[in-house]
Amino acid sequence: MSLVTLRTITELRARVGEARGAGAVIGAVPTMGALHAGHGSLIERARAECGCVVVTVFVNPTQFNEPADYTKYPRTLEADLAFCEPRGVDIVFAPSEAEMYSAGAQTFVNVGEVAEFMEGQFRPGHFRGVATVVAKLLHVVAPDRAYFGEKDAQQLAVIRRMVADLNFPVEIVEVATVREPDGLALSSRNARLSPDQRRQAVALYQVLLAARSRILDGERVAGELKHLAAEVIARYPAVRLEYFEVADPIRMAPVENITGPVRLAGAIRLGDVRLIDNLLASG
Ligand code: PAJ
Repeated sequence: MSLVTLRTITELRARVGEARGAGAVIGAVPTMGALHAGHGSLIERARAECGCVVVTVFVNPTQFNEPADYTKYPRTLEADLAFCEPRGVDIVFAPSEAEMYSAGAQTFVNVGEVAEFMEGQFRPGHFRGVATVVAKLLHVVAPDRAYFGEKDAQQLAVIRRMVADLNFPVEIVEVATVREPDGLALSSRNARLSPDQRRQAVALYQVLLAARSRILDGERVAGELKHLAAEVIARYPAVRLEYFEVADPIRMAPVENITGPVRLAGAIRLGDVRLIDNLLASG
């Protein structure tokens, strides 16, 4: 089957219904487009595990808490289709805003504690938008498996919670973060960095690596790791640390003392570009 691009929910349901009827396992890869090798890794995993791979491309307005971030978000559908085709994607679902959100929509999905800290704290309303659009996409595609990146570990935890709490019949698959050779996590926002900002953007990964190695050396106090994070960031003058947190990997709530595995997570700003990253560390 060669790639088809669909714009409406009705067409999408019909096409996926045919594949399901023919016995195919349906795999969904939700994205906001501007596809890069990070998305590529999700697509390859879905391709290996599913008979029908659906990539959704939708820049979801309800999850942007900063209007400028939404307007500046890259929209590159032609390039995204050219990215999907050789990777064996069956369907790209690229709905308009009006197709996804009916006028006067009043129903949203609010996930509790797991959406409260870190990104939830610094991006008010963000996870409400993410959970709502992912719930809608899961209803529309009705996949057997849906693929998400560890790069957005709190998003993944929020989606896992929602899927469990609302009984979505889908298996959530986590795919490891894809990084540049210097360790910077691939992100569509990286393209907006100046050459100097790009060199300094590795600061966050350096913070995460330093914190993880301190834990391996026996550190158990989160506050000490926060001091360390501030020290590392100080070596990168173009970088401002928005937060660095040590969190329970399931609840995504901050911990003070490390007694088991923890998710080390942070956000930095370089000019008006905001980047996030995280690593799992075992205490
Ligand atoms: P987007 O930022 O386009 O990311 C789509 C998927 O690709 C997410 O699951 C994300 O974690 C994953 N991803 C991004 N960069 C990655 C990298 N470097 N390595 C591995 N995976 C990576 O996340 C969203 O879109 C949206 O919030 C969405 C879930 C589509 C809802 O609108």
